[in-house]
Amino acid sequence: MSNPKFRTMGKQFGRRSWAEPWKIKMVEPIKMTSRDDRLKSLQEAGYNTFLLHSEDVYIDLLTDSGTSAMSDRQWAGMMLGDEAYAGSRNFYHLEEAVQKYYGYRYLVPTHQGRGAEHLISRTLIKPGHYVPANMYFTTTRLHQELAGGTFVDVIIDEAHDPANEHPFKGNVSLEKLEALIKRVGADNIPYVSLAGTVNMAGGQPVSMANVRALRGLCDRYGIPIYLDATRMMENAFFIQEREEGYQDKSIATILKEFCSFTDGAWMSAKKDHLVNIGGWLAVNDGDLFDELRNLVVVYEGLHTYGGMAGRDMEALAIGIGEAVEDDHIRARVEQVRYLGTLLTDWEIPIVKPIGGHAIFLDAKSFYSHIPQSQFPSQTLAAELYLDSGIRSMERGTVSAGRDPETGDHRYPSLELTRLTIPRRVYTQAHMDVVAESVKAVYDARGEARGLKMVYEPRYLRFFQARFEPLA
Ligand code: F0G
Repeated sequence: MSNPKFRTMGKQFGRRSWAEPWKIKMVEPIKMTSRDDRLKSLQEAGYNTFLLHSEDVYIDLLTDSGTSAMSDRQWAGMMLGDEAYAGSRNFYHLEEAVQKYYGYRYLVPTHQGRGAEHLISRTLIKPGHYVPANMYFTTTRLHQELAGGTFVDVIIDEAHDPANEHPFKGNVSLEKLEALIKRVGADNIPYVSLAGTVNMAGGQPVSMANVRALRGLCDRYGIPIYLDATRMMENAFFIQEREEGYQDKSIATILKEFCSFTDGAWMSAKKDHLVNIGGWLAVNDGDLFDELRNLVVVYEGLHTYGGMAGRDMEALAIGIGEAVEDDHIRARVEQVRYLGTLLTDWEIPIVKPIGGHAIFLDAKSFYSHIPQSQFPSQTLAAELYLDSGIRSMERGTVSAGRDPETGDHRYPSLELTRLTIPRRVYTQAHMDVVAESVKAVYDARGEARGLKMVYEPRYLRFFQARFEPLA
């Protein structure tokens, strides 16, 4: 097999490999376990990787959320925490960083992404409203539904096909959106919920042309656009790589242009901002800001900390500047691609094109003999853990939950198991080990049996549900 590094280089490198723009200063040991240990852990965890103890995990690819390695500069920032209850200097650093890189006027800090989702959903959505979005995200949709909204997926059809190689599978279908506006009326659509690099579609980007056209359509009907900016740096990288006219623009320039087409954004800083905790909400509308700032003190904390310590805000402010560096984001996405290329060379079915933050195994084709009612993605996550101690995450029927009207399982077209790569944490050797484990599980795929759910929590069931293997 040829070295996939050589096939994925950017033009800047000619025939040379990329490498991480950092070196390791501190290490954290990880433990290798036996298959017997892992079987025991898996049974105790009810075959749900969220319920494993992290000490029993070898390579942890559950999520890229809050799992990144901070830089020495960020750690130095932790020592500069101003832990005043009100008006911490670190808040003003954070506000400055968001205004500088995103261009929004007003900032509301929150403890993490879903804190921000709660505030914006509660403020803008009224019962009877419809919320169009480029595919759902678990917590985002739940907050929209809890506020009384009905979620409507308006992503392009290509996004629902794991094998389709469309370069911007995160795009909004303007036809679907306009049909919805005509059906329910613009007054019943509080905003378009737009996500950069759509997580559940496989980390797929939205093009600049699409967001520009979306702005045009929304302006005609007077509908605002709010952006889930959680992985917008990765989205900017794909625009730079794939969209005409952006090759020579920096990630920072692309990010700011993209955001200029939206009215505000919410952020889980635990992803692209390279911190272990934090989030924010930023808007341009002064009246909306007043309401959000009023609500944040009820649910999160004072409007100058929103649930974060001063030191968290300092690390976050520094992280934002590091996250837009072109070398950083290139190495981040190329590492994901390195793993994906190893797998596609073995013809293991994954979502294509390879996304920004994770490899999504296509569990439907991986385990074509296991019906969705027996949770093939959950089964695959369990089998991977059993094989090697690698922890992945179900992103299929369990994550999709139940339809609030009918109470039935929602069976998504994408039945996926996610291998999520934390930023600046694992080496290429770890990726090789992961690929070999996926291959071993793939080779033994015929022997796998599905699971039955034996405990189901009411909200976001994937976090705490328990399963047993089918006989
Ligand atoms: N939006 C997106 C696109 C996300 O991926 C997440 C979290 C959130 C919002 C919520 O943010 O976790 O800080 O409250 N995604 C994590 C994941 C949990 O593993 O994909 P949060």
